[in-house]
Amino acid sequence: MSLTVRPVEYADQPDYTRLGGEAFGAPATGNPVPTREEWAAAGFREWGAFDDEGLAARLRVYGFTSWFHGAQVQTAGIAGVAVEPERRGSGHLARLFAAALDEARERGDTISTLYPTAPGIYRRLGYEVVGSFDDVDVPLQNLNRVAAPAGVVTRRATVADFAAVVAVHRTWAAAQNGPVSRAEKPFWTPPEKFFADYTGVTLAIDGSGDVVGFASWIRGEGYTPATALMEVDDLIALTPDAARALWRTLGSFSTVVGTARVSTSGLDPAWLVLPDLTTTVHSAHPYMLRILDVAGALTGLGSPLEGVRVPFAVRGTQDLAGAWTLTVSDGVTHLERDAVALEDAHHERPVLSPNGLALLYAGVQSAANLRIAGHLTGPSGHDPILTALFAGRQLHVRDYF
Ligand SMILES: CC(C)(COP(=O)(O)OP(=O)(O)OC[C@H]1O[C@@H](n2cnc3c(N)ncnc32)[C@H](O)[C@@H]1OP(=O)(O)O)[C@@H](O)C(=O)NCCC(=O)NCCS
Repeated sequence: MSLTVRPVEYADQPDYTRLGGEAFGAPATGNPVPTREEWAAAGFREWGAFDDEGLAARLRVYGFTSWFHGAQVQTAGIAGVAVEPERRGSGHLARLFAAALDEARERGDTISTLYPTAPGIYRRLGYEVVGSFDDVDVPLQNLNRVAAPAGVVTRRATVADFAAVVAVHRTWAAAQNGPVSRAEKPFWTPPEKFFADYTGVTLAIDGSGDVVGFASWIRGEGYTPATALMEVDDLIALTPDAARALWRTLGSFSTVVGTARVSTSGLDPAWLVLPDLTTTVHSAHPYMLRILDVAGALTGLGSPLEGVRVPFAVRGTQDLAGAWTLTVSDGVTHLERDAVALEDAHHERPVLSPNGLALLYAGVQSAANLRIAGHLTGPSGHDPILTALFAGRQLHVRDYF
């Protein structure tokens, strides 16, 4: 049976929508097919694999930037992956990804990320789990024990404060690996819409009048603490007193709301001021990353390791296979391709799997742990430098797609 992989056109939308609804659930009447205008305005990059019977597999690519190593990195975010139930296990997925990732690379995307329903689906394609976006239930009663903030007060934000909210998010995001920058659609929201989505956005203001944190929250229904629940999408604080002020403002609801369901990730610095961590993870969304372009992703990263020189190779049969030497000069990394046969590389240089490269780049596993997991082989003399080059920024991600 022949298979054609190509961008999805408007005429494919009924099939594309039906297959998505079958995979991810839809009302009995099915999900509505977008109008031509809605579809064109959204500007999605959608891909389909078509066999003799029609659409057999589909996915969508979001083009956005995310923060890694202090820079906004062009990212291809993959979502809505589905294969027709009767055609699963036919290898359509790999063909679909190859086409979508080729296009992403041509557009200049250097990494790709996704939220998997199961990590095993994407491992052989070079993706690995680098973090998790979680909704965590925090009993509001406990927040009454948070120490009083010194010199920070809270007030309700208005649309006029949008730029200050964006600036707090940006300052926080730029210091992490992983956060979606929220500078592009669908993560960029017009100010009026951003505020319309919440009951309130609370600002933390320091003694100089500067906005040093914010929390965006939806109050929810009811006033019986045992059942009432409020949702907190962002609680971002740039100082410990900002964190205390925001947590205490949420805690002031404890007579009428029992639980705050707070979106978070990793070891969240805003949580380090909490004296009590009797919290429950309500839902966890693992996040996977793949490198699309080794030289593009690893060149130009700021590094204090002036003068280091590390040869390495990436094994496998994918686009990522090859050998390079990484150097640091003028405060940034440089990459040079080496003419080394891959079968000989493991005798003379560290060799990463594609998944190991993803883990190393994201800064979430040391070289020692990559060896334990089987993602790094070959001589270990460069391990401390490999670890130091990429580690140091924690992985956080707060936007689902
Ligand atoms: C997930 C899905 C897209 C996979 O399609 P498929 O045609 O079965 O994929 P393949 O047979 O090519 O398998 C690809 C890999 O995924 C693995 N895999 C498939 N289903 C899996 C599962 N439920 N759990 C773990 N791994 C799984 C396969 O073992 C294979 O791994 P390998 O390459 O190491 O052998 C398809 O089953 C589907 O549409 N499921 C429902 C929707 C869904 O979960 N989509 C993913 C959203 S992130």
